Amino acid sequence: MKITNSFRSILFAAALVVQCDLNALPTTITLPPETAELKPSAHPGQVVAAQKCSICHSVDYINLQPRSMNLTQWTAEVTKMQHAYGAPIDTEEIAQISSYLASEYGTEKAIASTPLVASPPANKDDTTQAKTLDGKALLSSNSCLGCHSISNKVLGPSYKDVAAKYRGDEQAAAKVQESIKLGGTGKWGAAKMPPYPKLTQDALQALAVFILKQ
Ligand code: HEC
Ligand code: HEC
Repeated sequence: MKITNSFRSILFAAALVVQCDLNALPTTITLPPETAELKPSAHPGQVVAAQKCSICHSVDYINLQPRSMNLTQWTAEVTKMQHAYGAPIDTEEIAQISSYLASEYGTEKAIASTPLVASPPANKDDTTQAKTLDGKALLSSNSCLGCHSISNKVLGPSYKDVAAKYRGDEQAAAKVQESIKLGGTGKWGAAKMPPYPKLTQDALQALAVFILKQ
């Protein structure tokens, strides 16, 4: 029969390909080039998104979403990838990816353009050396608020709880700066805080000062 015959020859051809090309496997597979790339960012979610969001489809899917999406909407979108389509991401990765997407592809963007290292107007009554950097703006521009809020626990502890924990500790500022720079887990629970190795010393200090004032 015609179909069977051609099916056989396909099988035969396939067998030949497998035999001949065992040593040259990488060169025999030609996928269309992936031209879309995720926006570069110092946000730790960028790395996770780059790993996880191009598994099933082009990151153009992200590019094509409306820019009006806020953090809640991006979180819903990323959660849907996990629930509906089985994207291999856990709760922390969802928070990281969503926070990155909301700042680079959504409404957090305006605030997120506050540069990591530049100097927004000084907070007048801030008497520390971190005078020139606004800790609150830095929280937004680095999407810390994707996992933290001032008064409520989100994935990470509320900043009020962090301030309370360190009250009376003379090393508080240094410890908090280190916590932000290195990230980690186990101080508040099992969830992980991503590291922020690219934050400058001044930015770390401004963040610590602001958080400890809550
Ligand atoms: C396990 C496979 C898989 C992974 C991993 C995955 N997606 Fe998807 N994604 C899909 C499928 C399936 C669709 C629907 C495709 C369609 O309708 O053409 C989709 C569609 C989308 C859309 C279009 C809007 C929509 O809701 O249909 C966006 C935006 C999107 N994905 C973003 C992401 C992001 C961000 C990530 C990384 C967290 C991700 N995807 C990871 C499978 C995946
Ligand atoms: C992906 C989620 C996530 C993001 C984004 C995130 N954090 Fe966290 N953060 C956490 C978690 C989870 C913990 C608790 C870690 C632990 O138990 O050790 C934490 C803990 C902390 C603590 C307390 C550390 C201590 O010593 O007790 C501070 C301060 C903090 N984060 C600041 C920040 C700042 C500032 C940013 C932005 C630059 C940020 N976080 C971004 C999840 C996050």
